Amino acid sequence: MLKLKGAFGLLAASVLVSMSPLAMAHGDVTPHPIDTSSLKQLGTTWADANPYRGDKLAVSVGAEGYMHNCAGCHGLNAVAGGVAPDLLKLDADCLDMDSKEQQEACLKDTDAYFKEVTLSGKKNGEGRYTMPAYSAVFSQEAVWALKAYVDSRTHEELHK
Ligand code: HEC
Repeated sequence: MLKLKGAFGLLAASVLVSMSPLAMAHGDVTPHPIDTSSLKQLGTTWADANPYRGDKLAVSVGAEGYMHNCAGCHGLNAVAGGVAPDLLKLDADCLDMDSKEQQEACLKDTDAYFKEVTLSGKKNGEGRYTMPAYSAVFSQEAVWALKAYVDSRTHEELHK
């Protein structure tokens, strides 16, 4: 009995520990710059579709950037917890399309939308930012690496 209690206590403690960073992250919306120096540099003209689509290195840089900047609201591993919209829904319809051309055109639209919202943020009816604006901190490389990560997570969720 004692042993069981001990094991239960340990479990409860580990659940608390694993939850606390997420709870803290909700209040922390300070943008964290993303180090994209390892990626192919894209210049100052914005691409109209993600140049990093399918690039594994960009996906891992994006994953790290997502963890530090977006997970607190949009959920760990981009699995939404209900605070902010589910980012895995953005591309889900595109990736389901039969023809490659349709898929490309659809992803190009979600790329543009993702870029716009990430850079400019969103305000509620009272003019308060509900989704922070990141244009002051993120380079083009950072935004597309984040999108490459969200795309890759969407793929994983659709094909698991
Ligand atoms: C403080 C919480 C918070 C953080 C941090 C945050 N978001 Fe958001 N995000 C939101 C909320 C809330 C919305 C919905 C805003 C609305 O529609 O009014 C949103 C909307 C979005 C949308 C549009 C989704 C849709 O379905 O329309 C995208 C894309 C997005 N966020 C990307 C990001 C990325 C990328 C990051 C990290 C760099 C990030 N967000 C960080 C709260 C957050």
